[in-house]
Amino acid sequence: MIKNRATITGIAAELPDYILTNDELSKMVDTSDEWIMTRIGIRERRILKEKGKGPSDLGALAVKKLLEKTGTEPSEIDLLVCATVTPDHPFPATANIISHKADIKNAFSFDLNAGCSGFLYALSTAQQYIETGNARKIIVVGAEKMSAIVDYQDRATCPIFGDAAAAVLVEPASDNTGIIDSILQSDGSGLAHLHQKAGGSVNPASNQTVENREHYICQEGQPVFKWAVSKMADVSVDIMKRNGLGHEDVAWLVPHQANMRIIEAVARRMNLDKNKVMINIEKYGNTTAATLPLCIWEWEKQLKKGDNIIMVTFGAGFTWGALYLKWSYDG
Ligand code: UT7
Repeated sequence: MIKNRATITGIAAELPDYILTNDELSKMVDTSDEWIMTRIGIRERRILKEKGKGPSDLGALAVKKLLEKTGTEPSEIDLLVCATVTPDHPFPATANIISHKADIKNAFSFDLNAGCSGFLYALSTAQQYIETGNARKIIVVGAEKMSAIVDYQDRATCPIFGDAAAAVLVEPASDNTGIIDSILQSDGSGLAHLHQKAGGSVNPASNQTVENREHYICQEGQPVFKWAVSKMADVSVDIMKRNGLGHEDVAWLVPHQANMRIIEAVARRMNLDKNKVMINIEKYGNTTAATLPLCIWEWEKQLKKGDNIIMVTFGAGFTWGALYLKWSYDG
């Protein structure tokens, strides 16, 4: 029996103001609102346009809102984990920069890169620190400036991604709520299908890599799609089964927002009504490590204490997983 179950006790988000619509994208590449809506389900996404700004700026604003909303002093935070694939710099960690900008001085902080599964991995990491009693207040933030690595000449990837940050406060649960179970998995053979070719130590930046447009997301859509559907559906069904949950017991599914067709396929496999599925892909696109908390943030008011929530994700790596959480407060 776990003494200190970990739970989410607050949530906040920060979105850039600029809205990039499908119509504007259609002027940049050969695409259309109709194609993007039918094949992906995205109508618009937010873009951080201001020069010199990065995910730490979005992340720090989300964290400050979270601290204010939950009545938490920055000095009370023990740990801050930032999930991101678009760090401000290769080093130091964006988490360190966010902590600095949010005046968090008593915490240690680090980044976690698990592609689009980053938030789930980071939440599960926070859970371990809470359960062992090594930390009492942890912030997990998903912060991305995907627009920095999107090739706006590649119609196969540029409609998909958007920028955002969202942060949760994780604390010990004082009742029977909180994170009950999680399944996290990865398979490095996914590298071939989804990666950024240059800018890492294997292929450092050079005139050649820039000329070859190798600093952008490189994705083979179809294999990634197939893997995402099968792994997200399998892991969602597994976590329900091993916790004795039927579809009627699940209040909400929080799926990674990569493609509306993937979300629908996963909900079908779980036998869940669409009105139990958090979907905001149409407004924000795929914000990578920020999609899950961005959904929960939008739905927070509708959540009730004791709601069974399943989060499920799939991303670069490949990485995937599901987490079962009993929600801790009325929205
Ligand atoms: O979050 C990380 C995980 N990522 C994902 O889960 C993404 C998974 N993959 C997908 O969501 C989909 O594969 C995409 C949305 C990326 C692509 O959709 P698709 O239905 O798999 O399209 P496709 O790549 O098979 O391409 C079909 C056609 C091609 O034309 P031809 O060769 O049949 O003439 C593409 O060139 O659609 C064309 N196409 C487009 N047409 C108009 C590709 N992108 C576009 C576009 N507008 N934006």
